[in-house]
Amino acid sequence: MSSPFSGATERIFSDKSVLSESYQPETILERDEEIDAYSHALQDVLFGREPENIFLYGKAGLGKTAVTTYMLEELQSEVKTREEADELHIHEINCNGRTLFMVVRRLVNDLFPDSASKFPKRGLGTGDAFDELYQQLDRLGGTHLFVFDEIDHLDDANTLLYELPRARSNGHVTDAQIGIIGISNNYTFRQSLSPKVKDTLMETEISFSPYDAGELQTILDHRAERAFIDGACDISAIAKAAALSAQDMGNARQAIDLLRVGAEIAERTGEEVVTDDHIDEARIRVQRGRLQNKIRDQTEHAQYILETVAKFEEQREVPVRSKTIQKKYEQVADAYGASPLTTLKSVQDHLSDLHMLGFLVRHERNKGLSGGQYYEYELDLDPTIVLETRAELEQMT
Ligand SMILES: Nc1ncnc2c1ncn2[C@@H]1O[C@H](COP(=O)(O)OP(=O)(O)O)[C@@H](O)[C@H]1O
Ligand SMILES: [Mg+2]
Repeated sequence: MSSPFSGATERIFSDKSVLSESYQPETILERDEEIDAYSHALQDVLFGREPENIFLYGKAGLGKTAVTTYMLEELQSEVKTREEADELHIHEINCNGRTLFMVVRRLVNDLFPDSASKFPKRGLGTGDAFDELYQQLDRLGGTHLFVFDEIDHLDDANTLLYELPRARSNGHVTDAQIGIIGISNNYTFRQSLSPKVKDTLMETEISFSPYDAGELQTILDHRAERAFIDGACDISAIAKAAALSAQDMGNARQAIDLLRVGAEIAERTGEEVVTDDHIDEARIRVQRGRLQNKIRDQTEHAQYILETVAKFEEQREVPVRSKTIQKKYEQVADAYGASPLTTLKSVQDHLSDLHMLGFLVRHERNKGLSGGQYYEYELDLDPTIVLETRAELEQMT
């Protein structure tokens, strides 16, 4: 009997890893201005001076992390050729899902000598972790660049961004120089910082704007050249992935995802060339995946209420009032063996949230002369997708 794998041959990909999330591009394309500003801000390091603090912002998928990794690698190799430059230590940490204590503790553990035991998880506080961090910085000396990626997710960014840049001027550290690089997907994060923190952190701000279709095409062409066997991907399929992502926030991550998923579909169906149709299919699949994550993030009862509205939508009984939704929602929750929320108000609160999140459309109605006003709701999505996703999520639990 032949092996179940004997028929498998590479027809599409020559190096699929080039399209993976973890791949760090060796060249950054279409970001010359940002790279210029960045290199200017980092120059002090080459001359043994204290680095400027840098703040990067722009929506997800615009190259903030990739450009930072690239810049710091280049800086590190340049530092090695320069007499005046101090030894450079780079500390990159993603703040998503971490508390301030976890972040500082991670930094301390990074700085500890290999022989040291780890900073304890319990028993000591954030202040103790900062003290230890300062001691380690002085022990090592040199220049330290701290990259705080997705810093808008940190619970207490103000404290971190107040403390670290002032460690020298406040006399906590004497032998090391410190520079901060903050990265945020969310520009409003800036408004949440205290005025003192804004002043220090924002010495250099670099904003990343959405890519247009041409820029995305350049980025994709470059990847496609290495990712695919010659001729295995239509030029128009690449253009399509670029154009679709340009329409939708100019996100390079999304463009690369579309190309990879499209190519996977072609591979699975045994075809030899990735075409426009595969990219179209990929788009539906990627959108579904995103919607599924978004639905999964909702609380149990918000999901039941969403499912209820989807059922009305399917029966073409929309738009529908919250009172009517409540009755049917009670049956839905019952069917899942959950006890339904009891007040109309709590159902209305969920409806209002679901509307804000873009799941529902809301219509305001007035009761004529008798006064009073109420809302009616309908789904802003394809009800089939919502119901299918809900069924899948239920199966997983
Ligand atoms: N200018 C670029 N040149 C090459 N690849 C890029 C560029 N911008 C983004 N990418 C790629 O797109 C994806 C998303 O970029 P990333 O830096 O993670 O975005 P952000 O940190 O802004 O969310 C990564 O795979 C990255 O390698
Ligand atoms: Mg990033």
